[in-house]
Amino acid sequence: MSIQFCSENSLFTLHTQNTTYQMKVGPYGYLIHLYYGARLAEGDDLSRLFFPLDRSFSGNPNEAGYDRSFSIDVQPMEYSMFGCSDYRSSCLIPVNPDGTREADLRYVSHTIENGAAAPDGLPHVYDNGGEAETLRIRLADPVSGLAVTLVYTVFESRDAITRYAVIENGTSGRVELEKALSACLDFTHGEYDVITFWGRHCFERAVERTPVRHGKIVSDSLRGASSHQQNPFMILCDHDATETAGECWGMSLIYSGNFIAECEYDQLWQTRLTMGIHPHAFRWVLEQGECFTTPEVAMIYSGDGLGELSRRYHRLYRNNLCRGEYKTARRPILINNWEATYFGFDDDKLVKIAEDASKLGIELLVMDDGWFGKREDDTTGLGDWFVNTNKLHGGLDSLCRRVNSLGMKLGIWFEPEMISEDSDLYRAHPEWCLRGPGRAGVRSRHQFVLDMSRQDVREYLFETISAVLSSANLEYVKWDMNRHISNIYSGALPAERQGEVYHRYILGVYDLMERLTSAFPHVLFEGCSGGGGRFDAGMLYYTPQIWCSDDTDAIERLSIQYGTSFGYPISAVGSHVSAVPNHQTGRSTPMATRGIVAMSGTFGYELDINKMSAEEKDIIRQQVEDCKRVYELISDGDYYRLSDPFANHNYTAWQFTAPDQSRALLNVVQVKMEVCPVPFVIRLRGLDPEARYEVKPNSLNAVVREESCGVYSGASLMKAGLLIPLMKGDYAAAQYEINRV
Ligand code: GLA
Repeated sequence: MSIQFCSENSLFTLHTQNTTYQMKVGPYGYLIHLYYGARLAEGDDLSRLFFPLDRSFSGNPNEAGYDRSFSIDVQPMEYSMFGCSDYRSSCLIPVNPDGTREADLRYVSHTIENGAAAPDGLPHVYDNGGEAETLRIRLADPVSGLAVTLVYTVFESRDAITRYAVIENGTSGRVELEKALSACLDFTHGEYDVITFWGRHCFERAVERTPVRHGKIVSDSLRGASSHQQNPFMILCDHDATETAGECWGMSLIYSGNFIAECEYDQLWQTRLTMGIHPHAFRWVLEQGECFTTPEVAMIYSGDGLGELSRRYHRLYRNNLCRGEYKTARRPILINNWEATYFGFDDDKLVKIAEDASKLGIELLVMDDGWFGKREDDTTGLGDWFVNTNKLHGGLDSLCRRVNSLGMKLGIWFEPEMISEDSDLYRAHPEWCLRGPGRAGVRSRHQFVLDMSRQDVREYLFETISAVLSSANLEYVKWDMNRHISNIYSGALPAERQGEVYHRYILGVYDLMERLTSAFPHVLFEGCSGGGGRFDAGMLYYTPQIWCSDDTDAIERLSIQYGTSFGYPISAVGSHVSAVPNHQTGRSTPMATRGIVAMSGTFGYELDINKMSAEEKDIIRQQVEDCKRVYELISDGDYYRLSDPFANHNYTAWQFTAPDQSRALLNVVQVKMEVCPVPFVIRLRGLDPEARYEVKPNSLNAVVREESCGVYSGASLMKAGLLIPLMKGDYAAAQYEINRV
């Protein structure tokens, strides 16, 4: 049993293979958090860590009479609530029918069941069968009748615990929720760093690590999407935690809209993490008897450093979040025409690309933006999901047949949530945009946002997109979102419900994605938002891969993919080899380097293959072959960050190791060349110390010299390391295959 309840001391203990989470029904029925960390022994009770103490300016429950020793302001709370004197970050602010802003939640009951819980209409981590147990703890405010059920699912073998809250209006009237977060995690002692992920378009998920300080450190988005700017993932760790050692705790929100993640350090040096839907511009109306379900948070603890924390997230999300045929099936190696042609293509041009690509082993042609409506540039056509026969002269089916006859699949681009003013859809339905009455609305990339909270909008999109997908043998969809939301207002909702629109928008997106992915189970869906602007765990439930960044420069990608790897599996990271000079940076890098970097993700090309020299085509053929050979190692292997590109400006290295330690793949990119350089020695990780491994260069790289190759013990590769011979010139790269002999 991974979930235990001890009635004698009202103690809940949640065990995973390597971790334990404990909480307790404390004085006056408050649910007190006791512990989250390394696995404890059976029967361990950490109630001793709970010590009531009189604190001035921290109030006491009325039932305490004149006993000042207990206050929820200073105790570790399982779900913090506003109004009864917990002055720290609260998860819940209700406005009750009588106007009070108060939730005084006390324990009522609990249930334990097999299997994973599923928050209504929201993406979530699921059970593949016999992997999970769920605990539901019901709390209620005895005066107002408002109830909150905290739902915890324990994935024992994955070392993960998920949780969300269901808020039920059991009061005598209407309740409005001003804040309804998913989770709170309190630490009564310890000094920590907090790691957040920030960025911008073409520079996503940069790692920022700062010591926790008094007050709050906040990471959030009010853009209507999880965003390039911040990511809904936060790590708390020891000051001295490294990739290989130290305690760390991750909280990852399985949600794609506005979010907040807060780390608060209080007057008693206690740390509180909270996470959920951003309370700004949020106000959810709950009629009597109605429930509101928060998104789910996946919590993972590692006592062995950040590397292990990431690997646990990778395994959890690969196996228990991503769905569909392509969860396990090898993803096709693709070529996308965006950077090859931008809007300037027709069917013959696409077929020419497919002709050359197919000869090199590439398996899927993705037709990007520009095939529909009157779209010649980014000012027109969004919403008109009808084939532009000025470009696809023979129509979609004919293009598909031509591409299929070359032995390649065809994929297609959509931006379902958007609308151009110059479109038939806009002329017919200007009221379908998100914007307030009498307001012209802000344009961004010349476009407006459709009101995805509306059923009629979703119906239109389902019908038109389904018609396109049924009209030809399309096997891939890229789902883009190229602007953020402003002028938030839905014409379909009354004034008092406008605070629901951001969340209803995302629920609408999820609803449409669910319908389309179920209707077209053989289609591989890839998420995208101007690159990685909606790279979050919510999207991974619908799209097992997400275009990681519009920045395709191999050197820039080193840090973007490094940051992304903290919370998301490599199998989800869309990455392509593009042309040089790179279109975003103007930098030129060797083909081998671009291949090595793009291969650490869902591999593909995004360049005009018709313009490549015979020599470049040979390299592509080889890369495609290599990629197919090492595919499993990359998609299912354990990922090790061997260097930090934000700190090490000379080289970046990373490694994949098969779960059975039989083989590994080492990747090294030399970022900077110096005169009289110091050669670097890289220590591998995750190998069997007793086993012997043959180290040999992958045919990808021209630069590896014999010195680093040979047969060595796992121990020597991990303890002493591998000397990487210097590679002349900036941006050279090497890849080594390491096989147990
Ligand atoms: C976004 C995507 C690109 C491309 C363009 C098309 O920026 O990230 O890959 O699809 O849109 O407009």
